[in-house]
Amino acid sequence: MTKIKIGIIGFGTVGSGVFKVLNENKQEILAKTGKTFEVVSVLDLDKEKIESITNNPELIADSFDDLLSKSDIVLELIGGTTIAYEFVKKVIQASKPIVTANKALIALHGKELFTLAELNNTVILYEAAVAGGIPIIKAVREGLASNKIEWVAGILNGTTNYILSEMKNNGLSFDTALKQAQELGYAEADPTFDIEGIDAAHKITIIASLAFGVALNFNSVYTEGITKLQLKDVNYAEGLGYSIKLLGVAKKSNDGIEVRVNPTLIPKERLVANVDGPMNAVLVMGNMLGPTLYYGAGAGSEPTASAVVTDVIDLGRVTTDSKPSYNVPAYGFQNSEIKDCEFLKINQITSGYYLRASFVDSAGVLAKITSFFAAKNLSIDEMHQKVLKKNEKENDVIIVINKAKELDIDIIIEEIQSMESNVGNVIKIRLENLSK
Ligand code: NDP
Ligand code: HSE
Repeated sequence: MTKIKIGIIGFGTVGSGVFKVLNENKQEILAKTGKTFEVVSVLDLDKEKIESITNNPELIADSFDDLLSKSDIVLELIGGTTIAYEFVKKVIQASKPIVTANKALIALHGKELFTLAELNNTVILYEAAVAGGIPIIKAVREGLASNKIEWVAGILNGTTNYILSEMKNNGLSFDTALKQAQELGYAEADPTFDIEGIDAAHKITIIASLAFGVALNFNSVYTEGITKLQLKDVNYAEGLGYSIKLLGVAKKSNDGIEVRVNPTLIPKERLVANVDGPMNAVLVMGNMLGPTLYYGAGAGSEPTASAVVTDVIDLGRVTTDSKPSYNVPAYGFQNSEIKDCEFLKINQITSGYYLRASFVDSAGVLAKITSFFAAKNLSIDEMHQKVLKKNEKENDVIIVINKAKELDIDIIIEEIQSMESNVGNVIKIRLENLSK
């Protein structure tokens, strides 16, 4: 029976989860592969942690080189793009296969690392990097290989989905919900990556490349997190039949490719709108298949470790003498097909919009607002007025429009803001119907 030797670098939430999955599912994995996968070396800054979790001090690596020399497959589970980048490069240069859960590393350096891996006759697998335990990389790269992908929209960050759900369903404050997400092991080492949408942007960068066959281009992705989102808008949206989710969107149209992350109103009748807690969901539109939805745990120790171990199993199935013959290309397209691509600027997109403006009530306010839309030949789908302060006659006006050019909407917002009776800034939140 073949034994595949595993080295784990980084023994935190995900690394320790991998150790658990490999041990507890040993028989299952053996039955499926005919091979045993044994952790032979673990590197972490905290050696005591390794000993207390594994009960085996012999697993503690003296150094990276020590771990590398003992392992058939190396797992990078540290995170970040500095030391992790150096380790991953060294593993590839040693022509050994590597598995990582590190979306920042893939989104920023994947292009270089994929090429390096090819040159060194090895592979880098990264299923856990997008949507935690959901096998979305496999789904897009292999399961949907027969389809041209038109668009992908997904809740890709467990932490922000947890925060939004807790605020909406249980009345928790933003800070308390974030603290809980950190305690539960969902958040990144720097949680601003979660709440400012950067983590989701790393993930949609990767998905866009696999969906459309374009080179990874994180810097061209528009990113807006949830820190400026107001509970008031979450509640208004609810009242109008929408949930607000932090959505990663990648779309290909005649205008070009748009890739972005932003808070988004989604009609409640869509399944995605009802995905709560740390769960992720990714909706993929194939030109022949139509929509498919992938749902599951997007963060956490064991769910993420499940995806890492699945990559390990894939490699184990094709690895002999440390040389993988893995035949799925890094992007799922022939390397010669992969082109660099600048994504559309945010003001070049077409989307749905929710706008909220506050006014001191006076005659003709609504007529004036609607005239701005009429001038752009835009039809308003919904318009509501909510009385805020009866005495001061201050009102909120909410407008929903299902399809407009962002450029036109921005001009209308400026016009509304220049109205004398307008109070404060106009709030703009994009809206996706997520239908064909
Ligand atoms: P953790 O912070 O829990 O674990 C990282 C571990 O790496 C820590 O034990 C840390 O030690 C150790 N470490 C840091 N620097 C070094 C180093 N130079 N050498 C050896 N070990 C080092 O992170 P996670 O497990 O949560 O995340 C790991 C990766 O998985 C990240 O890329 C993350 O984005 C990704 N990921 C995480 C998910 C999750 O739900 N947590 C889900 C999907 C992906 P110390 O604590 O002492 O600093
Ligand atoms: N911090 C990430 C999240 C971990 O909350 O989704 C999973 O990638």
